[in-house]
Amino acid sequence: MSKIVEIFEVGPRDGLQNEQVFIALADKIALTEALARTGLPRIECASFVSPKWVPQMVDCAAVVTGTTPGLAELYALAPNTRGLQDALQTPVQGICVFIAATEGFNRANTNISLAGAVERVQALITEFKKNTSGAIKLRGYISCVTECPYDGVVNPSEVARLAKMLHRAGCDEVSLGDTIGTAHPEQVSKMLEAVVQVVPADLLAGHYHDTAGRALENIDVSLEYGLRIFDASIAGLGGCPYAPGAKGNVDTEKVYDHLIAQGYDILGVPDRAALADVAQLARKIVGR
Ligand code: HMG
Ligand code: MG
Repeated sequence: MSKIVEIFEVGPRDGLQNEQVFIALADKIALTEALARTGLPRIECASFVSPKWVPQMVDCAAVVTGTTPGLAELYALAPNTRGLQDALQTPVQGICVFIAATEGFNRANTNISLAGAVERVQALITEFKKNTSGAIKLRGYISCVTECPYDGVVNPSEVARLAKMLHRAGCDEVSLGDTIGTAHPEQVSKMLEAVVQVVPADLLAGHYHDTAGRALENIDVSLEYGLRIFDASIAGLGGCPYAPGAKGNVDTEKVYDHLIAQGYDILGVPDRAALADVAQLARKIVGR
């Protein structure tokens, strides 16, 4: 099994979206560029959602257009047709659609039922395919893959159902989100046991927030199931505005060190010293 792992950096999106103080456009671009210059191959730096819901992302188009092209592939979230069309006006190389495995989280996060969210995401993917020629990648997120802050424990078969739906609809990759960061390895194992039956493991990513401090163990379990892509956020920035109390994504540097210590190579060979410098920049930008 491959010993190459990719760290998919989400700091400028998942990391910053929850910051209460507005971060200046120049700082968002500086962070995205600094991350890209470390060698990380893909950076999620934008979210074309309603600024009424997530004000921090209001200038995300300018982040994408303002970032020096060619350093890394830039990814952006799109919740609906409007977000997709706005994103496609920029030079993004990847679009991310998102859905949650529970009724409660879909309603809190995107004001829609679970059934409605399935319909909306399928329609969005159809539109994505109509408007793009294959050059732009499509990532699908599933939130609350083990636990939901509103509905409690999540049945792995529900996550598998949605993963299969996203994969069949055309997502190149499905990212599995422990949105509130409370998952323990046994839960992740049960969830993956169901999901890898329906989507090949090399098309799955682990997106683990680190509220309970077990994200690295959850990554270890995921490696056993064949996953080789892990979402992480520089300096562990982040949280979700609609997941109260959830902390940031697992810290990029921690993931890097953890994987290297186990003999894995990191795709893009990020410059370790540079990652530490960017983490400092990230902390400075958010005032910590
Ligand atoms: P809604 O209120 O049901 O929809 O929101 P609406 O159509 O009534 O729109 C409300 C207002 O927003 C309207 O403005 C729209 O025009 C505008 P008004 O007429 O009142 O002036 N609007 C938009 N503006 C800009 N861009 C758009 C857009 N769409 C509508 N694309 C909606 C529905 C989906 C828009 C809203 O609920 C929303 O934006 N939600 C996003 C919430 C969010 O961003 N959450 C965080 C990202 S997901 C996440 O973090 C999880 C993840 O990390 C994985 C994990 O950890 O689990 C991915
Ligand atoms: Mg997240």
